[in-house]
Parts: sequence; C-alpha cells; structure tokens
Amino acid sequence: MLLARHGATPAKGVNRQALSAEEFAARRELIEWARPLGLTAYTDAAGNFFLRMEGRERDAAPVVSGSHLDSQPTGGKFDGVYGVLAALEAVEAMRASRHIPKRPIEIVAWMNEEGSRFAPGMMGSAAFAGAAPLSEMLPVRDAKGVSVEQGLADMKRAFPSVPERELGRPVAAYVETHIEQGPVLEQQGYSVGVVTGIQGKRTFRVTVAGEEAHAGTSQRRDRKDALLAATAIIQALAKALHDEEDVVKFTVGRLEVKPNAPSVVAGQAVFSIDLRHPAEAMLRALGDGVPAICKGHAGACSVKVEELVTAMPLEFPHTMRDEIRAAAQRLGLRTMDLPSAAGHDARYLHGICPSGMIFVPCKDGISHNEAESATADDLYDGTRVLAETLAALAER
Ligand code: GLV
Ligand code: MN
Ligand code: MN
Repeated sequence: MLLARHGATPAKGVNRQALSAEEFAARRELIEWARPLGLTAYTDAAGNFFLRMEGRERDAAPVVSGSHLDSQPTGGKFDGVYGVLAALEAVEAMRASRHIPKRPIEIVAWMNEEGSRFAPGMMGSAAFAGAAPLSEMLPVRDAKGVSVEQGLADMKRAFPSVPERELGRPVAAYVETHIEQGPVLEQQGYSVGVVTGIQGKRTFRVTVAGEEAHAGTSQRRDRKDALLAATAIIQALAKALHDEEDVVKFTVGRLEVKPNAPSVVAGQAVFSIDLRHPAEAMLRALGDGVPAICKGHAGACSVKVEELVTAMPLEFPHTMRDEIRAAAQRLGLRTMDLPSAAGHDARYLHGICPSGMIFVPCKDGISHNEAESATADDLYDGTRVLAETLAALAER
C-alpha cells in the first residue's frame, strides 16, 4: 500500500512506468526499508535493481528473488510489486531470526517487465540473462520519444551512489512470487500455487502505410486509408485466430493513428499484436500465419510486420517445483500446481539458472486493471513459502 503511492491513480490503481520518477521513488523507498537490514543496493547496465544480503560464503553465487516495480498505465498494486516485497520480507525474517544463509540472497526489481513504456517488456531480465543484447534495447523510444538509453541515464542521475555491477553474474537459483492474475487458485480454494511453466507468447508490431487526404474532397477510389485497412486486418486476424475452446489468446491493445485528426484520411496506423498459446507447435503455426493475413487485408495500403518477441512455452524444472512444494508442506500449507498464462521475468532467468515461481490468488482473477486486489492472508502464505524456499536453496 505504501509503494502504491508512487504512481497512484485517481481510481486507486497504479501508473508507474519503467525508469520514471515514480519508479525511482519506489526504489528509493525500498533502499530506506533495506537500510536497517544492512543490505547493499546495486544496479547494472540494464537498470535492474538489486538489494543484497551477504551469506556465510561471500563468493558463493546468490539465490535471487523478486519481480518488477513498473506497472501497466492502468495497473494495480500487486502485479510485480508483491514479488519484490515478498523477497524483502523473507530477508527481513532471516535478519529477525539471526539466520545467516550460506549463499547471499539478492532481492531484485527487473527493469521494464511490463513493456508499456518501452516495447517489448522484460528488457532487464532479458539483458541480464543474455537472451537479447542491451544494445538493441537502448534506442527503443517511448511515446514521447525518450529512449531507454536516456531513461537509464536518468536512473544514474537519480541514484549516483548506487554502484553498477556487470550484467549476467552467476545466479544459483531464482524464485519469483507473483499474484496469479487468473481465477484458478481462488476458485479452487488454495492460498499458494506451484507454477509448472509459462505459456508461449509472440508479439508483433504492424505498420500500415496509407496516404493522408482531405476527408471531404478525396475520392474513395484514390484513398489509401490506413485506419480502415488496419481495422480490416485486425478483424481478419481475430477471425483466423478464433478457437471455440478459448485457448488461443489474441490481443490488439495498442493502435496509433497518424495524423489522428477528424478530417484527415489516416496516413499511417501502427498496432500491436500479443499472441499466446501453451503449445509450441500451435504458437509457431499461428504466429507464422500473421504476416500473410496482414498483407492479404491491407487493400491499397502497404503493410510491414515486425516480430518483437518470440517466447516459446516453457516448463520450470521439477527440482524447483518440488523445493517449493516441500517448503509449503513444512509450513502445513496445501498447494496446487498450475501453469502461468501471464509472462514473467522468470522466463529469462530459466535460461541461466534453476528457476521457479510461487503464485497467490488475486480477487476474481483481475489484473492489468486498477481494481486488482489480493488478501493479506494469501500474500502472507506466499511470502512464508518463499522465505522457507529461499532459506533451503541458500544452503545448497
Ligand atoms: C505480463 O505483464 C504479461 O503481459 O504477461
Ligand atoms: Mn508481473
Ligand atoms: Mn503485468
């Protein structure tokens, strides 16, 4: 609730964009909370933010846990933030009980998970894990024309005394705690879920190029109306990607029109495609069909389709899932195994170290919405399981 002040919206949600003043304020608050715990703050070239508790063996690779502090423009108080605070609370509990683990434990807030200010998302974890080069992210610009590179310079100016470490240092294990963002745990009556894996996702940017013309004088046969073409393409995609079972997830959440004036035929329309499916073969087949559908419905306009993210479905290792389940059992908590339909930074950490995720229910499964909510009891259970899991992993 305190972090939700940073970027608070009138509808009681949160708008805290990556590398914004609001996100820096949240980081500053975390540094204050970490001070009495004797944690050291670090950043890296990708703007990830770490708080480190030393272990008995200083040189051992750390166990890392966290999520993200950035939000969607009409986001809630829990998406991302919960994972960062659960990790802080777990470390606080170790301090309170004077437990010093063998390995260091690091709390992390990855840079730009949501991808709402800078597309695509999960930039910080991708750069850290070597899944994508930072050099390709630096020129990406937000809607106001500010680049990731400038955002990172803003961060350095805001935190001159936070040292920068190299990207991609070894990690012993990664655990991310998160609200489920779906209805399953709540409906089934579990406070803790062991995440089996993450469904696949492909994202695209489609640019439809037409020609600006006078809304009163130009003839239909001469028009190259980029907005009409874009809406025809979107409808064709929705039809082609429709499945009765509702497993295919297809979303166009952003549409930008130029010049966006009532009396000018649109000269350009740019829209996003977010396409998800739990099965790799299906995701490949559906995604591969996108460019042809776009070109086939562009009419007199030209169309460019760029794929921004190709992330196949993944399964977390059984060793990590067993570790989380065993930790819950030691605490007397029942757990349920379930896949994640949402994306998370754990996707990229999975590429470099044993990774796993803990879910807690959220109210009515609502997320990416200012009404997002979760109960203190459920958040507490998830945090206890995290603390128990981290303590065990940090002795390995
Ligand atoms: C993460 O925010 C996602 O869009 O899955
Ligand atoms: Mn999230
Ligand atoms: Mn999110």
